[in-house]
Amino acid sequence: MIVYLNGEYLPLEQARISPEDRGFLFADAIYEVARFYRGRPFHLAEHLARMREGLAALEISVDAGFYPGVAERLLQLNNLASGDAIVYAQVSRGAAPRAHGFPPGGTKPTVFAQARASDPVGPVGGGSAILLPDERWGRCDIKTVMLLANVLSYERARKTGAIEAILVRDDIAWEGTKANLFLVRGGAVRTAPNGPRILPGVTRGAAITAARTLGFPVEERAFSISELLSADEVFLASTTLWTYPLVAVDGKTIGDGKPGPVATKLREVLWADFTK
Ligand code: PDD
Repeated sequence: MIVYLNGEYLPLEQARISPEDRGFLFADAIYEVARFYRGRPFHLAEHLARMREGLAALEISVDAGFYPGVAERLLQLNNLASGDAIVYAQVSRGAAPRAHGFPPGGTKPTVFAQARASDPVGPVGGGSAILLPDERWGRCDIKTVMLLANVLSYERARKTGAIEAILVRDDIAWEGTKANLFLVRGGAVRTAPNGPRILPGVTRGAAITAARTLGFPVEERAFSISELLSADEVFLASTTLWTYPLVAVDGKTIGDGKPGPVATKLREVLWADFTK
């Protein structure tokens, strides 16, 4: 595998980052994950805008404009330009002796990117999720690599055979550990509003637009656990999962226990639109 690190393309085994990198020491870094089909990105502008916002929030001066060209080159170098692929990018504040304050000016940010084949988007039987308390920090809208609460919650879900943990705070089911969360009731689609408690997902935005185009009313309004569990349909949305129906949450069957028509339709329409 050929990866990108600080201006160079090199084999993964040769890519080296300092142990003093602030991404390693403090999770002082942001990341981005976008999907490419036959080299064409899904909603690239939205990914770039989110990366710019994250870099600005962390006050890291790197131009997100590096991403499209690097992604294209990585897809070519790894023979992924004709298939379905994911390009991960991460920017940290760079390497410096450990101190909480920002390092002196002139410290070079670390820029890393990697492409890999993605899991295929096919018909799905639907998965289950568990509910867990949301133990993340107060700025979940910034896509930082500080994902320990997500990692621990996801692992707990995985151990029970679930595909996701839904994170709950103040009786609101905000989102999953790596995907946004939607419900459908009476043909209307609902998801939590953007704000500090969720990541403004690119797939979330595309699903909202597609749902409206298909004539489903969409409301960006938070919902409680009981609203979630009594919904007709529940689904996740993310770059890697695409839209993905949940047929059980915390042991409670959702709807009739099968992927619902709205989630299934959105999955098909978004995929057909992306790959046409
Ligand atoms: N996860 N919410 C969280 C907490 C996420 O980590 C993600 C993405 C999303 C969906 O965002 P998008 O549709 O832009 O992918 C929502 C990525 C894929 C990851 O961490 O690998």
